[in-house]
Amino acid sequence: MNRRTFLTLAALSGTTATAGLAAGCGSDAEPHPAPPPLDLSTPLRIPPLLNPAPEPDGLRRFELITFAGQSELLPGKPTTTWGFNGAYLGPTLRAGRGDRIAMTVRNTLPEATTVHWHGMRLPAAMDGGPHQLIASGGHWSPSWTVDQPAATTWYHPHPHGTTSRHVYRGLAGLFLIDDDQDTRLPTAYGTDDIPLILQDKKLTERGGLDGDPMSGPFGILGDRILVNGTYNPRFTVTTARVRLRLLNASNARMYHLAFADRRTFHQVATDGGLLPAPVAATTLDLTPGERAEILVGFAPGDNVVLRTLDNGLDIAKGDLDLIRFVAAERLSPAPELPAALPAPEPIVPPAGAKVRHFTLSGRDSINGRPMDMQRIDEVVPAGAVEIWEVENATGTSHNFHIHEVAFQVLDADGRPTGGHKDTVFTPARTTVRLAVRFGPFSDPVEPYMYHCHLLRHEDAGMMGQFVTVEPGTESSVSRRYAGVGHAH
Ligand code: C2O
Ligand code: CU
Ligand code: CU
Repeated sequence: MNRRTFLTLAALSGTTATAGLAAGCGSDAEPHPAPPPLDLSTPLRIPPLLNPAPEPDGLRRFELITFAGQSELLPGKPTTTWGFNGAYLGPTLRAGRGDRIAMTVRNTLPEATTVHWHGMRLPAAMDGGPHQLIASGGHWSPSWTVDQPAATTWYHPHPHGTTSRHVYRGLAGLFLIDDDQDTRLPTAYGTDDIPLILQDKKLTERGGLDGDPMSGPFGILGDRILVNGTYNPRFTVTTARVRLRLLNASNARMYHLAFADRRTFHQVATDGGLLPAPVAATTLDLTPGERAEILVGFAPGDNVVLRTLDNGLDIAKGDLDLIRFVAAERLSPAPELPAALPAPEPIVPPAGAKVRHFTLSGRDSINGRPMDMQRIDEVVPAGAVEIWEVENATGTSHNFHIHEVAFQVLDADGRPTGGHKDTVFTPARTTVRLAVRFGPFSDPVEPYMYHCHLLRHEDAGMMGQFVTVEPGTESSVSRRYAGVGHAH
């Protein structure tokens, strides 16, 4: 029952209509009654899994199609949303290290978009950033070989200036990467290996997406939480321990997660892969774009709510319930908690590593410059390990994401943290120092992005571009974007 797909027929048949799509257009004509108390009783949707076998040519072919379709974010109140291969969110893609991916993205939306593989290590021309626009009615076919450690990555649009609106309307999905190492972690998708895509929404009385993702200082902070697109969700646990793959796919909301009974869980992975060993915790912070994997033990009959708490640190105020876990009276046994995990090698900057400094001083620029699609801000030798210092000089929270790379936090105002990441929280008036490992891909023309992942800020220009190039050629690279983009 948890495998109910949300690839609805309605979405696939009658989807061209987009008239009256007020979502995210700032229509505040309807009243906003406070959401009623939740009983957390709706079965959690599990996004369908897409895990194609290799074809005779060795390629694994994936197809994503963007749709405008009908969803019931509130039961009985159909509304227009956007999704991949369905009306809201997208399938969970799954591939293993060494797999050759042939992807096709078709865009049936009335406007251009892109699809960015957030957390994927790949050439810039395949990255799906703002230069890889897919026209309305067009398609895009990137291909690459998966070559990175096991991780929970995700995909979402990245058209400059409209990312916040496209994601808010529902375009996002998970991309799981497996490695052949035996981790003894739960891997039965939807049974003991559970994706949890966390999003907050503002909904109208008629159940439509409301609010302007570009309004106010942070964009939308919704008062209703969707998990995998499910409002008021419950998950029935059937095993003694589950692995939760958490993704913050919200536009601006930061989560400070804890179970209502403050039970201890174990974090086993960050954005970029496994930790060296499970880390016991009772709370977990997740800013937009970040992922974490945790193991949670359950006793028969347990009934516990996962919440987000007001930790006083960030822009989201108040506590909110996210999802209820109800454990069956009989639970299948789970593998023991592993003592160690096959984590990727620590990222150690070499002596004399290049240091770059990025100052966040507003909500629409980095180092005082707003994003310019035609300007290449940084040129990095392929394969380098550099130190990036990100200073949040403002009085409010931001975060910082770098495309393609894996980094490790050297210190966040003195606090060391482990694990490979690609997105990091940058609290007000703090500096984080990152050891950043860049990939082997060189392309003097097509850039990767770095930016604040609060989508309102990203769209407003809190973003910059870098290219990775053949070492030794840095000074001969054009600082103007010389590409032609890509649109069919
Ligand atoms: Cu998930 Cu450039 O972002
Ligand atoms: Cu990204
Ligand atoms: Cu920001």
